[in-house]
Amino acid sequence: MTSSDPMLDRAVRAMVETDLLLGVGQVPLADDGAAVTGGSGSGPADAAGDDESFAVSSSAADAAGMEPSNPAAAIIGVGTPAVPAEALLGESIGERLQDLATRHAASCEHCTASTTHRNIVFGEGDPDASLMFIGEAPGEREDRTGRPFVGPAGEKLDQMIAAMGFSRDSVYIANVLKTRPQDNRTPRPDEAERCGRWLASQIQLIRPRVLVALGGPAAKLLLGTETGITRLRGVWGRYDVDDLRIPVMPTFHPAYVLRQYTADVRAAVWNDLQLARDMIRGAE
Ligand code: URA
Repeated sequence: MTSSDPMLDRAVRAMVETDLLLGVGQVPLADDGAAVTGGSGSGPADAAGDDESFAVSSSAADAAGMEPSNPAAAIIGVGTPAVPAEALLGESIGERLQDLATRHAASCEHCTASTTHRNIVFGEGDPDASLMFIGEAPGEREDRTGRPFVGPAGEKLDQMIAAMGFSRDSVYIANVLKTRPQDNRTPRPDEAERCGRWLASQIQLIRPRVLVALGGPAAKLLLGTETGITRLRGVWGRYDVDDLRIPVMPTFHPAYVLRQYTADVRAAVWNDLQLARDMIRGAE
């Protein structure tokens, strides 16, 4: 049923979609990609610690003509892959990722110096993925299993991936840090910088069409910025390193969505995911 007011129709549809998306395990139908109003609710403190209100997002059309760049990325080191892709052994990308994981386990300064983790959580998924999600760091269950996003935040991420029309197997999931920080704290910038070099190698191998940064630490590292996630989310940035120019869509971390389970937060995330999905569709 529709009303005579297109704005009202859109608002109602956005509400229903986001309830379905992040509410009861169902997924919304694909739509025409119209931007959802992110709302101007009082954006509560996010995982990155900033507390500005969040705003309406940019559209996929804006993103196509985007001009952002991240020259600061080189300054904080994410632009320097730990091992250049051409130095890795293997016929396929999957084999080279495996070689990278082996080298990482043997030599990552952060991970070998850290004494509390049980497993390294290097990343998993399709080595040929067009869509790559970057989280923050392994949690307790990830540390136990060696797999990214398998706890409650992982369940939410699985819902988000499905809502976009992808399967978990068809995307690649990695984190800024490959080992669980003590007391589950937010990665320090120096840790993000050291581990980020391995992430840069993963991105260089996989060469996804779109990167989705889940939360502040991932967005800051990929975009080389100090800006908080509430300001960054919903606006296309660019991972601009060596020969790579990959659109980055920052959005709230699924753990934050679980903590702040409001209509505004869910609408904002669904908006961001649609932008990412539409960018990939447009590139196909
Ligand atoms: N949160 C993250 O950022 N990454 C994980 O792998 C799990 C939870």
